[in-house]
This record gives sequence, structure tokens and C-alpha cells, in this order.
Amino acid sequence: MDEHTPVLVGEALAALALQAGGYYVDATFGRGGHAASILQALGREGRVLAIDRDPQAIAAGRRRFADEVRLTLVHASFADLATLVPTHAHGRLCRGVLFDLGVSSPQLDDPLRGFSFRSDGPLDMRMDTTRGEPVSAWLARASLDEIREVIASLGEERFARRIAQAIVATRNEHPLTRTNELAALVSRAVRTREPGKHPATRTFQALRMFINDELGQLEKGLSAAVDVLSLGGRLAVISFHSLEDRAVKNFMRDHSQVDPAFLDLPALPPEAQPRLKLIGRKSRPSEAEVKRNPRARSALLRAAEKVV
Ligand SMILES: C[S@@+](CC[C@H](N)C(=O)[O-])C[C@H]1O[C@@H](n2cnc3c(N)ncnc32)[C@H](O)[C@@H]1O
Repeated sequence: MDEHTPVLVGEALAALALQAGGYYVDATFGRGGHAASILQALGREGRVLAIDRDPQAIAAGRRRFADEVRLTLVHASFADLATLVPTHAHGRLCRGVLFDLGVSSPQLDDPLRGFSFRSDGPLDMRMDTTRGEPVSAWLARASLDEIREVIASLGEERFARRIAQAIVATRNEHPLTRTNELAALVSRAVRTREPGKHPATRTFQALRMFINDELGQLEKGLSAAVDVLSLGGRLAVISFHSLEDRAVKNFMRDHSQVDPAFLDLPALPPEAQPRLKLIGRKSRPSEAEVKRNPRARSALLRAAEKVV
């Protein structure tokens, strides 16, 4: 229950181009799989700042890495990297930032967190359980249109309207507070079955992304990461579904190309220089990795270097 198998470890470490004495940020610590591999590759002078917005992840990390003086663990959101790094790096240059997006296996596997449609639990889905509102509270007050919009846009769900109607009809009778009840209601509302996919997958993904503002956080986190990286520092991002990957791809593209508005100028002003250079092509896990760890199947890694 407390294990998470890290994905694309070799690829992520290569993308970060680790230097033994460098300062690195693991923006999504989880259970520390990537952080452990980074620390193993660093020397005595190397340091890792690891961040997670889930207090349980940080508590587990403090137990696992109690004797690791090169690691600083902070309960925070990666959206705040721009203040977290200067606070903790004590003037050291940040050589790399890794994001491994989405939820960890311990989050998914613990019914009490409410992320899973496979086991019954409270309909919560907050990564940071110390703030914000659980999905059940939002579903109790949102309008039918708001619910439909979230499920349609963040779940890319064709049957969003039918699902939203079913949610509103149910909550008019009693509060919708359990994952099993939501999963069953969605299964009845979704008309066609996607092979190998539970009918509630899209709805659960949408509600999770919404309640944790995952795309908003990602936008802020990527921007802040570029700000805190030193020249030549690396940004490596692992995403797990198309909406996330699109945001990462667009961000890296926008920051690695000259804004067309400046193309006609005889010389590029400094503020128009692209800040990133793309590194390699996107990487996917090998067949062997997916066989070992089926949760890796949709992972995708993109990397870039800060050049300005
Ligand atoms: C896929 S897991 C990371 C697993 C980790 N790389 C490992 O090897 O164990 C994603 C983690 O990112 C955390 N997370 C998601 N969004 C975050 C955010 N905005 N700020 C900080 N942590 C976040 C989640 O709580 C979760 O623990």
C-alpha cells in the first residue's frame, strides 16, 4: 500500500544530465523513487530539494530518508517553486527540476483518499488534505453546467451531460459522498464501453484534475521551474495523459521558439530570446518496463535545457 514504482528512471536521470555536486529539485516526491535514484547518482556535495503537496508523501519520505543529509523535504506545491528554491538552495545554482505528474500508487490504492473507482471510500481526491474542498463538497454545490463542463473538458468524456444529470438527480435525493456510488452512477450513464477502461475512468480523472487544479498548478510550476533553473539547467517532465502532455508540449514549444511577433525585427531583443532548447525526442517506457509496471504504460517524458 505504501509503495510506488517510479517510471522512466534511467531516461529521467539522463535528461537531467546529473552533475555529482549539483543541486536538483524533485517537484513531485511521491514515495521518493526518483529522488532516491538522483541521490544515488550524486556525490557528497550534491543536494536534492523534494516537494510534495501531499502531507502523507512527506511523512513517508521523512521516515524513509531519515539519515539522508543531502535531501530536504518540503510539504508545498510546486506552483511555489519560485520562492521555495531560493529559500532552500542557499545560493546554490539549480541544475535540474524533475516533474513526475499525476497521482502516486499509495494515493490511488488507499480507499480513504477517494481517488479510485475500484474500491469504496469517501469522495475526496484532494492531494493536499490540509486545504481545499473534497470532490463531494464541490459536487454538492456546483451547477449542472459546471459539472458537465469539468467532466467534458478535463475527462474528454462524450457522455458528460448524462453523467452530470445523473449526479444532480442523485444529490437531490441524498448527498453523494462515496466513490462506489459515483462509479456506479457513471457506469449507468455512459453508453459505450472503451476496451480495457472502466467507464468511470474519465469522470474520476476530470474531478481529480479539477479539485486539485492540476493544469493551473502545472502552468505555474513549469514557469517557476524555468525561472529558478541556472543556465544549462535541465527541465524534465513525465506526464500520464494527453491533457497534461499537451500542456507540457505547448509550454516547451512556446519557450523554445521565437515569438512570431519578433521575427521581422533586424535583431532579437533579449526578452524575445527563447529561454529553452528542447532536448531529444519525447521518451516512452520500454515494453519491458510496461510489463514490469503496467502503470507506466501511458508515461511520456519531455526534456529541455535553459539557454537564456
Ligand atoms: C506520480 S507521483 C510521483 C512519484 C515519485 N516520482 C516517486 O518516484 O515516488 C506524483 C506526486 O506528485 C504530487 N503532486 C501533484 N501535484 C503536485 C503539486 N502541484 N505540487 C507538489 N506535489 C504535487 C502528488 O501528491 C504525488 O505524490
